[in-house]
Amino acid sequence: MKLDVVLGLQWGDEGKGKIVDVLAGNYPVVARFQGGPNAGHSLHFEGKSYVLRSIPSGIFRPDAINIIGNGVVLDPITFRQECANIGRTGVPVRERIKIAKKAHLILPTHRLLDAANEAAMGKGKIGSTLKGIGPTYTDKVSRNGLRVGDVLAPDFIERYRKLKDRHVNQLRMMNFECDPNAEEDEFMAAVEYLKEFELIDCEYFVNSQLETKPMLAEGAQGSMLDIDYGSYPFVTSSTTSCAGACVGLGVSPSKIGHVYGIFKAYCTRVGSGPFPTELFDKTGEELRKIGNEFGAVTGRPRRCGWLDLVALKYAVMISGVTDLIMMKSDCLDSFPVIKVCTSYKVDGKETGQVPFDTFAHIEPVYTEFKGWNTDMTSCRKEEDLPKEFREYISFMEKYLEVPIKIVSVGPDRDATIMR
Ligand code: IMO
Ligand code: MG
Repeated sequence: MKLDVVLGLQWGDEGKGKIVDVLAGNYPVVARFQGGPNAGHSLHFEGKSYVLRSIPSGIFRPDAINIIGNGVVLDPITFRQECANIGRTGVPVRERIKIAKKAHLILPTHRLLDAANEAAMGKGKIGSTLKGIGPTYTDKVSRNGLRVGDVLAPDFIERYRKLKDRHVNQLRMMNFECDPNAEEDEFMAAVEYLKEFELIDCEYFVNSQLETKPMLAEGAQGSMLDIDYGSYPFVTSSTTSCAGACVGLGVSPSKIGHVYGIFKAYCTRVGSGPFPTELFDKTGEELRKIGNEFGAVTGRPRRCGWLDLVALKYAVMISGVTDLIMMKSDCLDSFPVIKVCTSYKVDGKETGQVPFDTFAHIEPVYTEFKGWNTDMTSCRKEEDLPKEFREYISFMEKYLEVPIKIVSVGPDRDATIMR
């Protein structure tokens, strides 16, 4: 069987949680493969809302196994809190979640280092979620990290101390004032809690499941935040493109099936960095208000702008997207004119490619569409969608050369049109 992958194609916050929850009905196994609690995946059903950070969005499906893969960085403290919140709704989290032994642990001091790095960068800061993501992946790559499986080792505490001391030295060198012991007790209690879960050899588990079952991999963040292909250095520290699913779960590229690429009908970005179609006017404010564009993790207002098809086509190429999913289409219902960026002008020259230097002056070239001026939130079938909207999406399908298979017209599970 195949591993199908769901990926955000923009700067994160595309609506991955909702779609994974909708699709999870068809997949007995759902796996996260990269990122960590910097993610905030929102789900709405039966009148309730949930935000997931490290737990895969298949958690509410009674029969689904949810895997936290080896490419993920896991913060035991956040994970424990998240499990407590979900457990309160009656979900048996221990039965439904398995954790890769090779996933790396986020220590409280990783979070302090994140804050210290950002403070040192001053105005040039990344705008990190400060969850310790960058420092944890740094320790992984520099071969200093601690992994989930290490919590079972008899010398875990010593190894923890060694890494913590290293961090304390780094913090001291950076003159960052903090108390590195503040969360230690909570961390150790959360590590004990981790031991109550089934800790797996992810690569063996995933490949044996794939012999008989289809599986869904749930990406976090988005293509434009990819460590290699995003707007570096204003990116996250993991591979958010399709290749990340192979590395982050221990699966061969030949096992990949559908690659579902999710995008919003407009663009948002939270944190710093280039954003060619960003709007600083009333339209941008309106998008923020209508789309409720405030961070699910940090509450920060998101920067808003028109859809950028140049960046989207780039993301489609990098990940080999086979099916597109368009989210929040209903948020454009009331705009008389809808714009999409179809090329960039870089130093006066028009191009359809994302330039190496994303800090170059990029002027977006727009194609305009007449708005549909219809409330689409109650549409449930293709035929219900207004003519202008259908013309608009067929333009995008031609430009991107990939079919738009799902259109979302509201946050709820039901507000989903399969095409
Ligand atoms: P989901 O999965 C939106 C952004 C941060 C910052 C940059 C680096 O909910 O789509 P990090 O904390 O990773 O060091 O931050 O990446 N960022 C996200 N933006 N959605 C996310 O996740 C994000 N995760 C990280 O705002 O600009
Ligand atoms: Mg988010």
